[in-house]
Amino acid sequence: MQVFRNNFFINTPTLMNFRFAWKYLLYKLFAMHRRGHGIHSPFVYDLLTNVIENDNQYYIFADIENLRNQLLRSKQKMIVSDLGAGSALKNTRERSIKKIVKHSAKNRKYGQLLFRLVHHFKPEILLELGTSLGFSSAYLAAPDKDSILHTIEGCNNLARYAMHNFSLLKLENIKSYNAPFEEALPKILNKIKVLDFAFFDGNHRKEPTLNYFNQCLGKINSNSVFIFDDIHWSAEMEEAWEEIKKHPQVVVTIDLFFLGLVFFRKELSKQDFVIRF
Ligand SMILES: C[S@@+](CC[C@H](N)C(=O)[O-])C[C@H]1O[C@@H](n2cnc3c(N)ncnc32)[C@H](O)[C@@H]1O
Repeated sequence: MQVFRNNFFINTPTLMNFRFAWKYLLYKLFAMHRRGHGIHSPFVYDLLTNVIENDNQYYIFADIENLRNQLLRSKQKMIVSDLGAGSALKNTRERSIKKIVKHSAKNRKYGQLLFRLVHHFKPEILLELGTSLGFSSAYLAAPDKDSILHTIEGCNNLARYAMHNFSLLKLENIKSYNAPFEEALPKILNKIKVLDFAFFDGNHRKEPTLNYFNQCLGKINSNSVFIFDDIHWSAEMEEAWEEIKKHPQVVVTIDLFFLGLVFFRKELSKQDFVIRF
């Protein structure tokens, strides 16, 4: 059985599929309309109209998407190691590059949204949990060559392949860490003063997600932005998202179904939005 996820289909157990499809239908029916109708927060209205809805094209988009199309045609396979919660190495298996691109990478729509968010907020220090082949990393690092993106990937072959992709795209502001999140994250956080932007896209379970979130909170300031991937993917991820929304330091959240945006701005009033994207 297959389910619609992040604009493409992946294999998952059937019960989860129905739950997810049902959630997605509810989101499509009841989420706030685009174009900002009914949104009274100037910060969110501006973000919606100038960033989320914006479809400006940038030169790097074509380069990244050409690389994606090239890999989608690739016949190459690689041995991938699966990392579970607590970074336990579960198993290794052979996967085609094509399938990894199709099923793991953020697609063009969400990749370009990540780019626009970075372009808008101008973070200097960015963090990504879950590099895979590096598509979202490329979109995160491309807006400003002077920013630094720290990206972590536990699978050795994926991390190496991603670095190759970064050099093809001439992205020199990415620091790649081939280690479990649990090992690399505290080291990175120790090194940096402020975490301006974080994208959480790996180990989609409640406890690890909340654990990474809590660790990263130690380095935020009022302007920091956190983005969580797949907040509705499972009941566990929804529980994690609910806890994040309730956290006293979290001020505004925006649920775009496949991504959850989190803001800590002290000048805003606490509010949670669900916006159709
Ligand atoms: C969904 S993929 C990331 C996709 C990527 N952000 C993109 O959009 O192109 C998640 C990645 O996180 C890695 N991962 C999962 N749990 C991990 C852990 N505990 N430590 C290190 N890497 C992990 C997996 O190996 C996988 O490649």
